[in-house]
Amino acid sequence: MDAIGIFDSGYGGLTIFHRIQEALPQYNYIYLGDNARAPYGTRSFEVVYRFTRQAVMSLFDQGCRLIILACNTASAKALRSIQQKDLPLLDASLRVLGVIRPTVEAIDGVSRSKHVGVLATTGTIASESYTLEINRLFPHITVTGEACPMWVPLVENNEFASPGADYFVKKHIRNILAADPAIDTLILGCTHYPLLTDKIRAALPPGVTLLTQGERVAKSLANYLDRHPEINERLAREATRRFLTTESVDKFAEAASAFLHQPIEVEHICIH
Ligand code: DGL
Repeated sequence: MDAIGIFDSGYGGLTIFHRIQEALPQYNYIYLGDNARAPYGTRSFEVVYRFTRQAVMSLFDQGCRLIILACNTASAKALRSIQQKDLPLLDASLRVLGVIRPTVEAIDGVSRSKHVGVLATTGTIASESYTLEINRLFPHITVTGEACPMWVPLVENNEFASPGADYFVKKHIRNILAADPAIDTLILGCTHYPLLTDKIRAALPPGVTLLTQGERVAKSLANYLDRHPEINERLAREATRRFLTTESVDKFAEAASAFLHQPIEVEHICIH
């Protein structure tokens, strides 16, 4: 029986995993964080694709046939190539899903001004994945992106609550609202950013809604499993969790508690 694989460049995907395991606690999960090579957000398309592909292969080897890329940068830069180039050459039962589509599906109902902002890594913004995906579903929505290259390092280095983080949070909120003052909805388009939510909310003027991804991705996964009974019935239901990192297990275990609010055991893995 299969586990569900969850992948991120580092800790950020834990914000998604946290919501997924709340919504669907019965399944077995394997989380893989490529912390040794994080952040991905400033890396080229080729490198993000290569690293993500290696992680996905490694999760397939661990017994996952359904994998969620709980990373916007990997979803933006690697998902399509993996789905179109790699999976057809492998086993037809393998599935890899991303986090951008489920996030985008929700926005039309949330934004009244139909002006939406996306806060994400440099790579996600440069890929224009959000703009393309939003305008494919909702051509009447105006999208403005803002790359926040310091936000992931602040989270990866456990500095997200520090006074230093205020400066970088305020700077990017100011930039995006200056670029389009009609924005009434901001997407947190990076799975690391929910740890900065308090600071982001404090920097926002009233009337701007902040859209996080965890619950939406969890709901979309539940829906996907309902629509695909052939995948659902292969999934093990022993509620086991494994956490794999390419970096130090102690560091991961300590940092992960800020995301999951519970102690965990972590295993080291090499991927290449
Ligand atoms: N958490 C990831 C995302 O959602 C990427 C962070 C990074 O490695 O730069 O984009």
